[in-house]
Amino acid sequence: MTTPAIAANGLHKSYGDKTVLDGIDLTVPEGSVFALLGPNGAGKTTAVKILSTLITADAGELRVAGHDLAATPQAVRAAIGVTGQFSAVDGLITGEENMLLMADLNHLSKKEGRRVTAELLERFDLTEAAKKPASTYSGGMKRRLDIAMTLVGSPRIIFLDEPTTGLDPRSRHNMWQIIRELVTGGVTVFLTTQYLEEADQLADRIAVLNNGRIAAEGTAEQLKRLIPGGHIRLRFSDPHAYRNAAAALADAARDDEALALQLPSDGSQRELRSILDRLDSAGIEADELTVHTPDLDDVFFALTATVPAPSKESVR
Ligand SMILES: Nc1ncnc2c1ncn2[C@@H]1O[C@H](COP(=O)(O)OP(=O)(O)O)[C@@H](O)[C@H]1O
Ligand SMILES: [Mg+2]
Repeated sequence: MTTPAIAANGLHKSYGDKTVLDGIDLTVPEGSVFALLGPNGAGKTTAVKILSTLITADAGELRVAGHDLAATPQAVRAAIGVTGQFSAVDGLITGEENMLLMADLNHLSKKEGRRVTAELLERFDLTEAAKKPASTYSGGMKRRLDIAMTLVGSPRIIFLDEPTTGLDPRSRHNMWQIIRELVTGGVTVFLTTQYLEEADQLADRIAVLNNGRIAAEGTAEQLKRLIPGGHIRLRFSDPHAYRNAAAALADAARDDEALALQLPSDGSQRELRSILDRLDSAGIEADELTVHTPDLDDVFFALTATVPAPSKESVR
């Protein structure tokens, strides 16, 4: 068994009499992407700040890169990189100067600092803009520079606090690609996001933070199976076959107009198999079989009890 990159047990944090984190447990295996998902004010940034040693927890057993956060925060600091929710980029100096400053802070030699800076600026497509003041950069460029600065110290664990909030779709996809490449390189990524799609796209595991607690944790697929709404839909082109099937599957919901039957299902392999067995033994051959699992939006709204956005039906 390898040591997890991040392990938190009973993490507590309050500001005055406001409890922000009310006993959080989480484990992030090395080399994986973990997404902490939650609405504004859920405590995501607070969790990132604690795990990256910027502020201290009130209670909890916390280990990052195998080091105890309370006992040896400087060992943790040496292993991690943090890209905050609000940019660390200094707009008054150039992108290159921002990078060299980071190299200095990371105690790289002048020569090594120049080498790493040139390499990272190239990798993040910032070479052309390197000599321009960072204040002239677009939102996407600033975010890329921010991450490049985080990578100067070659951290094994990276915290990204809402890395794509406010970015246009193209820059967002760009950032996703960057994050995937980091993981391919063996880096562990702890990211926070308000976007379900982002967690779905990137994360090996997702924790939903609500009211100071982890409301649910698992892979995107596991989370989707937590809530009802999944079903299997069988569609027929022959009305006769449809009627026979409807008679054989008395528990199925009927859509006579579309010649379709719906059976509730959690989308698991086991349940799918038992449904297929039933169809086989009743001699039913559907023209089309589709599995519908609820999407992450459904899960998120169910778990955080946020008033859901109007459904497509009611918008019309
Ligand atoms: N330094 C602070 N002092 C008092 N309250 C704070 C402080 N930082 C955060 N909070 C409160 O803690 C809650 C969680 O904040 P935050 O961690 O920033 O949430 P998120 O990043 O999920 O939007 C919010 O209600 C916020 O107002
Ligand atoms: Mg935040």
